[in-house]
Amino acid sequence: MRKPIMAGNWKMYKTAVGTTAFFEKFRSLVAASDHCEIVICPPFPNLPSAVEAAKGTRIHIGAQNLYWGKEGAVTGEVSGPMLVCVGCTHVLIAHSERRFYFGETDDVVLKKTIAALEVSLTPIVCVGERLEERESGATGRVLVEQFQNGLGGLTPEQFSKIVIAYEPVWAIGTGKTATPQIAADAHRLIRGEARARFGADAAAALRILYGGSVKPDNVKSLMAQPEIDGVLVGGASLDPISFASIVNF
Ligand code: PGA
Repeated sequence: MRKPIMAGNWKMYKTAVGTTAFFEKFRSLVAASDHCEIVICPPFPNLPSAVEAAKGTRIHIGAQNLYWGKEGAVTGEVSGPMLVCVGCTHVLIAHSERRFYFGETDDVVLKKTIAALEVSLTPIVCVGERLEERESGATGRVLVEQFQNGLGGLTPEQFSKIVIAYEPVWAIGTGKTATPQIAADAHRLIRGEARARFGADAAAALRILYGGSVKPDNVKSLMAQPEIDGVLVGGASLDPISFASIVNF
């Protein structure tokens, strides 16, 4: 049985005060939600407030990015050991906004994933096709390439510790959710790649989250798909009541 992960990606939203206010409401709403793991990923400066506010709860805190070196002359970057020091347990890697605004390539994905694993952070590695790729029938090829180039270089031991998030770019922040069927098909394809590279047991244990316009009113039908092992939520994770109703689908 794969335990679902319900993760919130706050992107570049909220201050420290807003972070604390969110948790004040959210904590009690998910206090009994032990059917899943809950992860919230605030922007870097608000990680300490989030860690503090989540103390004594089952809510995990993740970062939205990391650099692959431990320290060095790399202005503006944050390393895995720094995230661990602040209390993070998870980190998003290669969100499509990182791939497209900041040019993150599959090489970078592999380096960042290994760097996260070296300090025992759980990487949530994002993959997904763009609208023009879906429309031209290239979805399968794109997902296979992202998997093979970004994750195929992991050892089986490393692979057993990662989480993948399938986020079709055309569904992010657009209000267009992939139908449960479209998402499940993509998850099956990714799991098939995992099976081919890392074997049946590793593929069966791999958790694949769906992301892209997940809302309280569509989460149930997505989670009804056995292939979908949780969700990565942007906009609808910013409000405590909305995100709690997603967590407690
Ligand atoms: P959205 O974002 O839920 O606002 O579409 C999802 C994401 O980018 O992870």
